[in-house]
Amino acid sequence: MAKLTLMQILRKSGLFEGKSGIIKALKEGRISVEGKVTKNMNFQCNPNTREVCLDYVKVELPALRYFIINKPQAYSCQRGDKYKDVRELIPLGVLGEGEPAKRAWNTLFAVGRLDIPTTGLLIITNDGAFGSKVLEPKDKVAKKYRILTKKRFDTEQAEMLSMGVEIEVYDDTYMTKPAHVEILRDHEIFLTIREGKYRQVRKMIGAVRNRCMALERVAIGGLELSKFELAQGEYYEFSGSEIKELVFGKK
Ligand code: URA
Repeated sequence: MAKLTLMQILRKSGLFEGKSGIIKALKEGRISVEGKVTKNMNFQCNPNTREVCLDYVKVELPALRYFIINKPQAYSCQRGDKYKDVRELIPLGVLGEGEPAKRAWNTLFAVGRLDIPTTGLLIITNDGAFGSKVLEPKDKVAKKYRILTKKRFDTEQAEMLSMGVEIEVYDDTYMTKPAHVEILRDHEIFLTIREGKYRQVRKMIGAVRNRCMALERVAIGGLELSKFELAQGEYYEFSGSEIKELVFGKK
């Protein structure tokens, strides 16, 4: 493992709910590296070869875990939301027992967000580097959605989406990159995009004067939800190499 900042190490440990708890512990002198109190969150070391302690107890980093879930509606990918947290669909018991399981659960995050009413494929992991690579615009991992539309979806709308449409992103206009559209039925399409602006799919459908009535993510790269026969709310666990090969393809 490369060197990490103390902030990164403590976040990966799952010992704290958020950044503010870490900053407080650092300020209070509760963190030490090789026996020496360190208050600088940007201090870098390799946690495998240097002993980082909280209150004199070695900070252990939970193993990296990789899950997919079939997200039901009314679950949120954002922590502390009024809706149920998608991570609740991963039972604590699969992460271990007692405190270590709770800590491991704390380190999990959803890779990219699905809106509250959106269903389908969501990756949940605690591997930050993998999560960033899936979302990185330069890596252009395809995300495929099945959409039910309010009005009949025609070839003109498909052509517009495949060339790019203007959507609003945080008070700015943004031209979407070329997308791939497959019309399945009058009111049902597959849309594949390689970017992920906030509520992008719903906005793209709105930009061609139609409306998204149901949205389900069916694939991320080569990882296809249908291959796993997961009912909504169910999960499946992979090893790191399995999920990377499926998402990014064989290297
Ligand atoms: N695009 C959206 O608009 N919503 C989602 O949940 C995912 C992609």
